[in-house]
Amino acid sequence: MKNIAVFVSGGGTNLQALIDSEKAGKFPNGRIKLVISSSADAYALKRAEQAGIETMVVRRQDYTNGDLADRFLADVCRDHDIDLVVLAGYLSILGSSFIRAFPNRILNIHPSLIPSFCGRGFYGLKVHEAALERGVKVTGATVHLVNEIPDGGPILLQKAVEVLDGDTPEILQKRVMEQAEWKLLPEAVRIMCERLEENGHETC
Ligand code: GRF
Repeated sequence: MKNIAVFVSGGGTNLQALIDSEKAGKFPNGRIKLVISSSADAYALKRAEQAGIETMVVRRQDYTNGDLADRFLADVCRDHDIDLVVLAGYLSILGSSFIRAFPNRILNIHPSLIPSFCGRGFYGLKVHEAALERGVKVTGATVHLVNEIPDGGPILLQKAVEVLDGDTPEILQKRVMEQAEWKLLPEAVRIMCERLEENGHETC
């Protein structure tokens, strides 16, 4: 059984998709053991509490530098025997001290088809605003492993979503979440937990 920590910052709809999928037995080799939020008022914390999952708030601004925050986060995850870290709407950028502590064991969901509309400054609604601005007919979501390049790690899963006439960023975001994000992330967690179960480490 692999222990999963989910990092959140906002509404937590991706976390909810993971909680519901775990309950439905969609990833039998994993269990969500801890939810860490970068913000004390993230609704994602309520979702975790309602599901009986331990929660913690770790705000980077409370640390004199990001590396101390990264080291604290890595210590917390090690203390909880975490095997897989899932970034689900997590808005802080993790530094190398954390990333190196969990090589090939950190997943991120990004609301576009990487390499489009990704990297620094592309998060949340901004991603969909850029897609509409560019006039793409297809967008989607990507689950990738996290390395030290923002949104630059190996891609695990992608799913395309149509852009429709009259779409606003909000309408497009909702469609991408419903049709892509909330399906891809639980599936990626299933795959990763299976691989970790089989060979103890992830080679992508
Ligand atoms: C979503 O746009 C998601 O794609 C991005 O963060 C936003 C909020 O996600 N990763 P959530 O509702 O907090 O899971």
